[in-house]
Amino acid sequence: MWLSDIACMKRFLKPAEGESILEVGAGNGYFSGAIASELGASGLLVASDPSTEQLSGLETECEFGNIRVVSASADALDIGFSGFDAIWSRGAIHHVTDKTSAFARFAQVTRPGGRLVIADIFSGTTLARYFDSFIAQSCNTGHEVAFLSKEFAASLCALTGWGKPTFYEEITPWEFEKREDIGRFLQLLFSAKPEYSAEDCFAAADEHLSISETASGWALMWPMTVMAASRPAHG
Ligand SMILES: C[S@@+](CC[C@H](N)C(=O)[O-])C[C@H]1O[C@@H](n2cnc3c(N)ncnc32)[C@H](O)[C@@H]1O
Repeated sequence: MWLSDIACMKRFLKPAEGESILEVGAGNGYFSGAIASELGASGLLVASDPSTEQLSGLETECEFGNIRVVSASADALDIGFSGFDAIWSRGAIHHVTDKTSAFARFAQVTRPGGRLVIADIFSGTTLARYFDSFIAQSCNTGHEVAFLSKEFAASLCALTGWGKPTFYEEITPWEFEKREDIGRFLQLLFSAKPEYSAEDCFAAADEHLSISETASGWALMWPMTVMAASRPAHG
């Protein structure tokens, strides 16, 4: 279901052969393999996350042997690599407590002219309302987070050595064969408490987001904000 999200990542991040890229909050590494394949044997992807349990195996199983996994929080990155061409992060920055330190650290490890691409839930959006009203109640670990506003993100860029960011509202279709797959997928993705059924998860997504029948099945339209910024080329 995330093929459109991979296409979206490629469109904004533009990973190119031979580049080195840092992924922040890589989760289960769904994007890591796709990025590393674009970088090729001469490139490097450092996939970081505070919890690297799900990333074990990625280093040995990737196509070109070009992935390194690092266990680190974005605001305390100590990774032993620098001069990255780009940084990619999806769905993770809203979990980071000290975003000023995180953005500053991103700038320190990126070369002049390097890129920062963050795809996340931003405050005031439909997706933020869905998370605050449903996921915060239904997720078995809660969802106590701090969504970036575009204004604060622009201030962070100015304060930490990034150029003025551009924001894009991207809606990617998550495609499913059957209607019932949608609720079940959301139930698993957001670790719903046992009292929340797949149908409850479907209903909340249907209320806040958009779900429709397509020629080949069903699509949940997932709206994310993408922020793209660069470091000044002269350092
Ligand atoms: C919703 S998942 C997104 C995973 C992956 N990027 C994706 O798009 O499928 C959020 C990820 O953020 C990570 N995370 C939580 N706190 C973080 C922090 N302080 N710094 C970096 N990542 C963090 C979590 O461990 C989790 O893997």
